[in-house]
Amino acid sequence: MIASMLALWELILLMLSNLFSRLAGAKLLPPPPPPQPSTAVAGSSLACDASYCLSWRVAVETNNAQGWRTVPARCVLYIESYMLGGQYDRDVETAVECIVGYADGLVVGDDGMDAWVLDVDDTCLSNLLYYQGKQFGGAPFDPTAFKSWARRGICPAIPQVLILYKKLLERGYKVFLLTGRDQETLGATTTSNLILQGFIGHERLFMRNRTYRGQGAVAFKSTIRKQLVAEGYRIRGNVGDQWSDLQGDCVGDRIFKIPNPMYFVP
Ligand SMILES: *[C@@H]1O[C@H](CO)[C@@H](O)[C@H](O)[C@H]1NC(C)=O
Repeated sequence: MIASMLALWELILLMLSNLFSRLAGAKLLPPPPPPQPSTAVAGSSLACDASYCLSWRVAVETNNAQGWRTVPARCVLYIESYMLGGQYDRDVETAVECIVGYADGLVVGDDGMDAWVLDVDDTCLSNLLYYQGKQFGGAPFDPTAFKSWARRGICPAIPQVLILYKKLLERGYKVFLLTGRDQETLGATTTSNLILQGFIGHERLFMRNRTYRGQGAVAFKSTIRKQLVAEGYRIRGNVGDQWSDLQGDCVGDRIFKIPNPMYFVP
């Protein structure tokens, strides 16, 4: 009795499995999805973000992307690993190699009028420590917090740019530092911060004073560069992390962009 019930059960199972395989063959049943462990899903979405974020960063560095306010949320981790994982340092180093190669190939006049213009924030001095607390640019710009950070006067030198700065002075160039930082509130700390970090020997540090308050970076920096050219200086090169450092009037014979994917200054 039991044996015949088992045989019947086996027969039913066999018929069911035949039916299912024929249905599947007729594509009435979709094939089961391949197994996807959760790590593979997370991995492929990270890879997708990495590809998206590399494109985004290239658009930023080439100035195709303009007027952006924050790093896209899906790129915050990517920018963190870019800034801290060595690629940013490598990119700055490569930029500096290009600059030194160009500067070494020029003949420096003996009239002392061959000049370079360097920006300060994230060109000479690094604000990376500050931006670490601001999601590497994923959080909106906070002028009050940035000012109190800048007032501490503890921005470290970007080492590759400090090397460049010293080389330019050694070669006989006049170096002018040009920053949109406010003279009245940040003048003293910026001056001492630069000195403490080894930026000693530049011709002048230009900061934004009352005359230029409310002006955009391009307008303000253009006015100062025009003033230098009017004084007879030949601006052989101009170095900044923002395109607004490198646009406008009297930008110099060559411009060099230091990478910065954390913020955009119009
Ligand atoms: C602002 O700075 C410029 C350039 O250094 C200078 O010519 C001008 O006199 C300054 N204005 C004030 C109000 O200090």
